[in-house]
Amino acid sequence: MGIGDAPRETWATRAGFILAAVGSAVGLGNIWRFPFQVGQEGGAAFLLIYLLFIVLVGFPAILVEFVVGRRTERNPVGALKEIAGGVWSYVGWVFIATGFVILSYYSVVAGWTIRYAILGLQDGYLADAAESEGQFVDLASGLEAIALHAVFMAIVIAIVALGIQRGIELAVKVMVPAIVLITAGMAVYAFTLEGASEAYSYYLSPEFGTIAAEWTSILPAAAGQAFFTLSLGMGVMITYASYLGEDRNLAEDGVIIIGFDTAIAFVTGLIVFPILFTAGVDPADPGAGAIFVSLAAAFGDLTLGWLVGFVFFATVAIAALSSAISLMEVVVAYVIDERGVDRAPAALVVGGGMFLLGVPSATDLVLLDLFDLFADQILLVLGGLLLMIIVGWLLADVAIDELSRGIGDLGSLGRAWIWAVRLPVIVVLIVALTLGILEYYDFLTGPFADWIGETF
Ligand code: PFF
Repeated sequence: MGIGDAPRETWATRAGFILAAVGSAVGLGNIWRFPFQVGQEGGAAFLLIYLLFIVLVGFPAILVEFVVGRRTERNPVGALKEIAGGVWSYVGWVFIATGFVILSYYSVVAGWTIRYAILGLQDGYLADAAESEGQFVDLASGLEAIALHAVFMAIVIAIVALGIQRGIELAVKVMVPAIVLITAGMAVYAFTLEGASEAYSYYLSPEFGTIAAEWTSILPAAAGQAFFTLSLGMGVMITYASYLGEDRNLAEDGVIIIGFDTAIAFVTGLIVFPILFTAGVDPADPGAGAIFVSLAAAFGDLTLGWLVGFVFFATVAIAALSSAISLMEVVVAYVIDERGVDRAPAALVVGGGMFLLGVPSATDLVLLDLFDLFADQILLVLGGLLLMIIVGWLLADVAIDELSRGIGDLGSLGRAWIWAVRLPVIVVLIVALTLGILEYYDFLTGPFADWIGETF
């Protein structure tokens, strides 16, 4: 198993790397998952804890992935083989598996966003909540969902096949500024809505009582969200940093990337909640269907809602695309580096496999949950945790040395970073993993067992 002979690709510019990482971070996690988590977990209380975890867990963890990628200039499997060796090499496989599973159903959800954008242009959205729900159930699973999943995956394959500079870098240079501009524009629009002030107070004034009463569910949800939204635990940041040719200040890049991601998630709340409150929809309406049911119903209720809905869902689709390319790149980089396959066939085979694995998710929502919970609450956290243990405990000196390249002597900050990885990050991930496993068990013995009973 040799390493490809061609010189390894690199980003053309610093902005290229930053935009690609921002494009990866800003995705369905910000626009689809974040608002429904806020709604489900008690509004502003969740937001506060989430912001805390971004700083305490997200920042140290993203730097870990950056140093591993830049040090080794390899995909996650090759990187762990090189940097840690022995049994630790297998951790790279967890990342590849996570990427494979997540993108398989992420693409299905991205397909829904395309469908919902088109819906705005066709017949508009249904204002009645029950009808909107019925419409979602119709569109979410079945042949049309499979077809849109295929379309989305084909676009991802095409971009990744074109390579780092001509494919990914070029695509994110268009997509990311578009996402930022449209999001800002929509926030201004949302500000003019009647329900805005009620929404802001729900979203922005935390009730500390809620935190005290519900911390066992708020903490893991916020930690998981912080990890997911920064594309951590998937090997994305390892892979993207492996294309950094030169030394630069990774801490500064990390701050910029995290700043953008957090800002977009935050501003999405400023868009979604005013729309929901104006249409009289309860933000606590839980579940994965949230933006497709409640928000779509709200669009059905607003003047020119079809247009706003179209712009909103199209933006979500673009955000999903710039994330999906990063995840496919993780697996494609592995196939190129370790198997010596050319980029285009690698993208085709990997994307084809992901498409097939995603088909069950496009046929039944319970199956989508089955994949989502497993990948997001177990695989992702497990990969992240193992990597943090390896770097935090076994490779601390190497990591500090690598981080200092492009910054200069870190002084005691280097140790402080390692201790942040050893304590808050690792502890939070252990707790999240335990709760994730319990939750998955509940799912398997609850909704999934019911589904098996009904289906067979
Ligand atoms: N940070 C991404 C998001 O918030 O949506 C996480 C992600 C998910 C990246 C799925 C890539 C992906 F395919």
